[in-house]
Amino acid sequence: MRTLISNGTVVTAEGSHRADVLIDGETIAAVGLDLAKGGPADATIDARGKYVIPGAIDVHTHMELPFGGTFAKDTFETGTRAAAFGGTTTIVDFAVQSKGKSLREGLDAWHAKAEGNAVADYGFHMIMSDVTDDSLREMDKLVDEGVPDFKLFTAYPGVFFSDDGAVFRAMQRTRENGGLIMMHAENGPAIDVVAAGEVAAGHTNPYYHGVARYPIFEGEATNRVIRLAEAAGVPVYIVHLSARDALDAVRAARDRGAMAFAETCPQYLFLSLDDMGNGFEGAKFVCSPPLRPKDHWPELWSGLVKDDLQVVSTDHCPFDFHGQKDLGKGDFRKIPNGLPGVEDRVDLLHDGGVVGGKLTKERWVELISTAPARLFGMYPTKGAVAAGSDADLVVYDPQRKRKISAKTHHMDVDYSCYEGREVQGASDVVLSRGSVIVRDGKFSGKKGHGRYVKRAPATYARIS
Ligand code: URP
Ligand code: ZN
Ligand code: ZN
Repeated sequence: MRTLISNGTVVTAEGSHRADVLIDGETIAAVGLDLAKGGPADATIDARGKYVIPGAIDVHTHMELPFGGTFAKDTFETGTRAAAFGGTTTIVDFAVQSKGKSLREGLDAWHAKAEGNAVADYGFHMIMSDVTDDSLREMDKLVDEGVPDFKLFTAYPGVFFSDDGAVFRAMQRTRENGGLIMMHAENGPAIDVVAAGEVAAGHTNPYYHGVARYPIFEGEATNRVIRLAEAAGVPVYIVHLSARDALDAVRAARDRGAMAFAETCPQYLFLSLDDMGNGFEGAKFVCSPPLRPKDHWPELWSGLVKDDLQVVSTDHCPFDFHGQKDLGKGDFRKIPNGLPGVEDRVDLLHDGGVVGGKLTKERWVELISTAPARLFGMYPTKGAVAAGSDADLVVYDPQRKRKISAKTHHMDVDYSCYEGREVQGASDVVLSRGSVIVRDGKFSGKKGHGRYVKRAPATYARIS
């Protein structure tokens, strides 16, 4: 099957130019002018007035994550379908090692959740919650199997938390096996002290989740884990960076040449602590790190422009407001942490970044697709519009406006953090490996089309 996307403006991290894109089967066969002259295609998609961009890649999702006594609601089917509506054609989800269990058991469980269910491609990172001699040995095997990144936590004592010794041991091992350490950097034990004090003072509303997790606790932990990574000689990637204090630590590390990388998420660019203030409604916005006061926003945008932040991912981890978030009524510490977002990232960043005059359209593509592909061992199979790359492509209308709402979104969750917000820019046609899976707001893909993406080790991250 040959498909021609004609007359569009191809936008990549490197630049923009008018070009046709010819797809043969699952891959891009050619990018250039007047490709129709080379003979008829089986199907043509007219992209006049539209951008043609590489399918977006979300390297931070949690489908069906067990957390806070419940499970994140989206499955690999509903989650990748919602992602596709929003122009995201690849996700990298976090498999979980439970305490006392092996990495293998966790990874097998995540393969079982995804295989035959995902509508778009997926890979895995591994959450390590139990650093032992055995799990350290298992890391090498996972790198060989295309799971080269390991997330550790200095937050959530008693759940995912690892102490500095455990983090350092995982880093030392990663130095040898070529992987990448991803860190959730907040000082969990200190947060627990403050949170207990708030609850004892009768401050049980969701707002105090945001109050208790001080920005300085994120800044301290970020600096500490980067320093540990420097001592171990490994690259480190800070996930879901929310606060200027943490950005300062990343910037300082990069200025001294450390292999430090970081992502932020739309919730830290568009939502704030104020959103958590409306009684228990604030539970809709409970995530960790928490939403910050608005004066952190300009610094994060500037971090995106200056490449101190390299990626925008979502940390998609949806819990229903009714029946899940309400587990924490009367004690904010029991609210399951996480927000829905996989469907809206591309448009939010286009609207706030490109339309808002903060980012070029090329930088937008880099942040949502090309940089994640490079850092996480998928480039140029993914993240590029080039001959030989997977035909994961989006025909994007930079003018179309839409309102975000839980009534119309496709994520399996009963609210939206952006209810009623108008955004400019939307995905018209979404292709996954040559197949049209979304066109004009209608799903045409199929369950099981999504394939496991075996990723290469973190070579790119080793060039600081
Ligand atoms: O609140 C969050 N971020 N929930 C998902 C788990 C994590 O820490 O990424
Ligand atoms: Zn985290
Ligand atoms: Zn997460």
